[in-house]
Amino acid sequence: MAPTAYVQPIVDSTTVFKADLFKGKVLFCTGGGSGICRGMTEAMMRHGAHATIVGRKIERLQQTAKDLSAATGQECLPAQADVRQPASLKGAVAKTIEKFGRIDFVICGAAGNFLAPISGLSENGFKTVLDIDTMGTYNTIKATIQHVRASKGAYIHVSATLHYNGTPYQAHVSAAKAGVDALSAVLAVEEGPHGVRSNVIAPGPIAGTEGMDRLSPQTIDTAHLRGAVGRQGDIKDIANATVFLFSSAASYITGQVLPVDGGSEHVRHQL
Ligand code: HXC
Repeated sequence: MAPTAYVQPIVDSTTVFKADLFKGKVLFCTGGGSGICRGMTEAMMRHGAHATIVGRKIERLQQTAKDLSAATGQECLPAQADVRQPASLKGAVAKTIEKFGRIDFVICGAAGNFLAPISGLSENGFKTVLDIDTMGTYNTIKATIQHVRASKGAYIHVSATLHYNGTPYQAHVSAAKAGVDALSAVLAVEEGPHGVRSNVIAPGPIAGTEGMDRLSPQTIDTAHLRGAVGRQGDIKDIANATVFLFSSAASYITGQVLPVDGGSEHVRHQL
């Protein structure tokens, strides 16, 4: 009889890391209005950081900022910007500096996705996702780097695991996220001498996210979705990795890609 997979518990970062870990620090997060990036922002705020969340939908940003401030006691600034438009991103950065005076950490998380086979994917559809994910990451780096240098801070880029192998209907996102991984590596070597670190978190199957609910069932063989640990991921799993990677405990970690996937990519290879 096959052994029953061990189900790892979901833990909260505040039960592991100090509550004031990021006191006086400021996070700038694109895509922070919802989903995984909202969870990453909440965790940073629970450890004392103030945050700016950036997105296209101002009503959603305002509600999220209110909710996160109420939950954590830290300040959260909602800043409307499209990562495809460098000028609007620069405006969000300027508002952040005006309000908080610094930027220590940046999460490049804004992303776009839909399911389409290459044969049915228009040039504009392909370009749109590269513009949001890859160009958006580049634009965010350009808009923030001088401030992150000044604080000797760090970047986390939210990527994916789907481009490690061919994932059907995901050509645009696969190409885009491979570009994000590459940008992070270059940033790490160029900015390391300035005291800046850059890493990638590659979420696997995270329950309750748009990536899982809207995009995964059709694109991924569900047999490996519980990974090696016996459960799907939780947004807290990504948040915990974020807290660690931004902490000084990770000061010798840069230029890396950290899949947070419960071992699901390894399980996929065994099928
Ligand atoms: C084929 C599509 C399409 C679809 C859009 N397009 N949806 N093609 N199938 N389902 C095409 C359009 O026809 C158009 O090309 C081009 O893409 C641009 O579409 P717009 O709607 O004009 O773009 P825009 O309004 O900027 O919206 C961007 C978007 C949208 C990416 C299309 O879905 C979006 O804003 N998404 C944001 C939220 C999101 O997707 N989050 C998911 C993140 S999850 P033509 O040729 O007609 O002009 C994630 C995790 C990855 O990234 C890992 C998951 C496993």
